[in-house]
Amino acid sequence: MAQTTYCDREQSRALVTDGGTAVEPRAVTVANNKGGVGKTVITINVADRLAARGHRVLVLDTDPAGNLTEGIGLKDSYNEDPHFGQLLAEGEFEDVGLDDVIVETEWFDVMPSNIDLGSRQNLLDQDRQAFRYLEDKIVEPLLGERYDYILIDTEASSDSLFMDAAIWATQNMIIPVEPAEESLRGLQGLMEGQIADASQHRDVQILALVVNRCGSDNEVKRVIEELNEHFHDKLPSFIRKDVLESEGTRLQHGGLRERVAIKRAWKEGVPLAEYDAEDDQIEHFDELARIVEQGGVQF
Ligand SMILES: Nc1ncnc2c1ncn2[C@@H]1O[C@H](COP(=O)(O)OP(=O)(O)OP(=O)(O)O)[C@@H](O)[C@H]1O
Ligand SMILES: [Mg+2]
Repeated sequence: MAQTTYCDREQSRALVTDGGTAVEPRAVTVANNKGGVGKTVITINVADRLAARGHRVLVLDTDPAGNLTEGIGLKDSYNEDPHFGQLLAEGEFEDVGLDDVIVETEWFDVMPSNIDLGSRQNLLDQDRQAFRYLEDKIVEPLLGERYDYILIDTEASSDSLFMDAAIWATQNMIIPVEPAEESLRGLQGLMEGQIADASQHRDVQILALVVNRCGSDNEVKRVIEELNEHFHDKLPSFIRKDVLESEGTRLQHGGLRERVAIKRAWKEGVPLAEYDAEDDQIEHFDELARIVEQGGVQF
């Protein structure tokens, strides 16, 4: 493994070398309070594209429902002990270590969710320091050491310990929204709630906002217009009005598109590129992977 020097978390992390290329390790939370917007699909496929670009990638499924765990073919792990929630319990599972809760897949490593994660989260909720444990016990020891990138999938909730802990630990976010007016209100809630709270102590960066599951209707156009008005510097090129217009693409044809292949890949337990290497949305996941590498959208 490449030589790594650790910096204080408040400072930028040291560069590690990866086959001669400089890599700045980065952890990212994929979150939105709203359900079904594509958090899990985006986590799996951005992780897959980062891994395809030669990086060492870990995905952490903090959603007690375990959709990511299932969607990457690890349904059995969901019902098995040990699991990462036990790592966070103070003094209770001393014999459980990081290696015991990491599962290797063909594409990237995963810390699966578990059937007991919900009750574990409820127990941890009573511990005032619990929101720090994800950082102290998982992200800090692994990021830049064993992994270049750690992606954390979260549940849809405005009151989730794991989501708060993930934002705290990663300080970077990708936020998927759906192409509907109310999704922008949800986005505002997230920004004024969990992100604002974490930002009192941490420099939280939104790396990208992604409008997902786009059909070709006027709602897509409206949401893309509104995102461009308020968050232009957080938008990948496939959502940026100037780029779309310069390509002659109508706004209602922008965003991450609704594709049957995306749904089928999840059902088969594989990343999209494994299911159909020719799918036209893969390039958007590739762009999101570049945004994660670069620490934000570059103009
Ligand atoms: N671009 C897309 N095209 C087609 N289907 C999609 C797309 N994005 C997501 N889906 C499907 O929509 C459903 C919801 O997506 P996903 O599970 O990623 O959302 P989520 O935000 O993680 O949901 P939850 O809040 O339940 O965790 C899944 O069945 C998924 O396969
Ligand atoms: Mg999900």
